[in-house]
Amino acid sequence: MNIILLGPPGAGKGTQAQKLVDGRNMVQLSTGDMLRAARTSGTEMGKTVAAVMDAGNLVTDEIVIGLIREQLEAGGDHGGFIFDGFPRTLAQADALDALLVEMGQSLDHAIELKVNDEILVDRIIGRAAEAVAAGGTARPDDNEESLKTRLMAYYKQTSPLLGYYYAKGDLKDVNGLGTMDQVASEIAAILDA
Ligand code: AP5
Repeated sequence: MNIILLGPPGAGKGTQAQKLVDGRNMVQLSTGDMLRAARTSGTEMGKTVAAVMDAGNLVTDEIVIGLIREQLEAGGDHGGFIFDGFPRTLAQADALDALLVEMGQSLDHAIELKVNDEILVDRIIGRAAEAVAAGGTARPDDNEESLKTRLMAYYKQTSPLLGYYYAKGDLKDVNGLGTMDQVASEIAAILDA
């Protein structure tokens, strides 16, 4: 079972991916987490992407496709992949299709978490405030200015993927406004159907 979690910043992709990892032995492939890890470890790539991420823009397709390829090639015994925050452009979606074919695998569902902008802003600014209260610093892109750019990038570059997966018959949507457990139940119903 290979699935994509699609949705704007703060939609709950990471939260729901973690629930699937815990409940179904699936592997979460979050390009955002991979890029943040590259920054923390100070790799050349990490240094290259830092300013782009902080401003809320997308890093290049080449970099994120390379990261995903490495993870897919690592293999392992598990219940499938959860693509969290990837793909984000049509070029990335094409690359993912090709990678899955190379591996003799396919995509089962592209699940869109639907949440309106007002709630997204509340969640992200709330997360930043909690992080500052707990440890003094928030994610560098969790601020109003970068969030505007992240939302614009989503609507301009990523939302065309909804049509792409709809046309393939893979798109399912979920109300992302419920509690975390309610959202998880909706996703579970799709996976178990
Ligand atoms: P990434 O790390 O993917 O960030 P994002 O898409 O902006 O998403 P978030 O992590 O902010 O939100 P989420 O949807 O995962 O929600 P979460 O569960 O955390 O990307 C960061 C950057 O990396 C990008 O801007 C770009 O620069 C780069 N990048 C990454 N992938 C890339 C790619 N493929 N191509 C190019 N560039 C790429 O929840 C958010 C908050 O809401 C949390 O506080 C959570 O507790 C809360 N919450 C979640 N669900 C609920 C709920 N149901 N009710 C109430 N609160 C909830």
